[in-house]
Amino acid sequence: MSVHPVSSLSTTVATLRHAGCVFAEDEAALLNEAARSPQELTALVERRAAGLPLEHVVGWAEFRGRRFGVDTGVFVPRRRTEFLVAQAVALAPRRAVVVDLCCGSGALGVALATEASAAELHACDVEPAAVRCARRNVGALGQVYEGDLFGPLPATLRGRVDVLLANVPYVPTDDVELLPAEARVHEPRVALDGGGDGLDVMRRVAAEAPGWLAPGASLLVETSERQRDAAVEVVGSAGLVPRVVVCEELYATVVIGTAAQ
Ligand SMILES: C[S@@+](CC[C@H](N)C(=O)[O-])C[C@H]1O[C@@H](n2cnc3c(N)ncnc32)[C@H](O)[C@@H]1O
Repeated sequence: MSVHPVSSLSTTVATLRHAGCVFAEDEAALLNEAARSPQELTALVERRAAGLPLEHVVGWAEFRGRRFGVDTGVFVPRRRTEFLVAQAVALAPRRAVVVDLCCGSGALGVALATEASAAELHACDVEPAAVRCARRNVGALGQVYEGDLFGPLPATLRGRVDVLLANVPYVPTDDVELLPAEARVHEPRVALDGGGDGLDVMRRVAAEAPGWLAPGASLLVETSERQRDAAVEVVGSAGLVPRVVVCEELYATVVIGTAAQ
């Protein structure tokens, strides 16, 4: 349903374009779809023009063809990360036990669990806002825990995890200030900052992963092209067999670490 007269749709497009939105027409259509009244549309356009990420304004992000709720203050799942999930779907055995560490909105875990018909989904994040958001997205599909990395997971999962997703923060501390304002200002620092070389959280995840993975199971982490060799070293020195897969179209680099059989 459209709440927007055609004449003012062009005003919305112009407002968004003036605010620097590259895809102003597409965004105007999405804002129009999200608004239930002309007043609400005005408020949504103002929030977007002020620099809030579109996903936070409309309250959802598209990921692997589904819409996931994304609250303000929660990391917006990136299109490039669809590649990590595609790799995970290909690796998942039937009735897989899936863990989504550092789950943010929970989109990765839900997409994988749904596409691979997983038997169990366990997701975890340290940020209360992310946990609330993930609980809504995960619903009855699994459990969402709040806390530091593997800390809140049930001990009964040890040695049973078939696919371990961990899209951890991996921006080097000094580079956080170079990120676009949509990320730097509107996403929590804990979702972005990966420490001095960007690999601090990945190191902690890789070090503990072998204790949770089933024989032959895999950890999947996203990294950047620049960090690729260091990330391979991190995963390999944790005792997993590392390999790199790349999608140039999505500008995505994923390191897969596989446990011994
Ligand atoms: C880059 S975001 C990725 C979120 C989600 N996996 C995605 O791709 O949309 C990293 C997430 O890790 C969480 N995080 C950072 N440090 C953590 C820790 N020590 N334990 C658990 N979660 C953590 C952040 O709150 C954030 O939600």
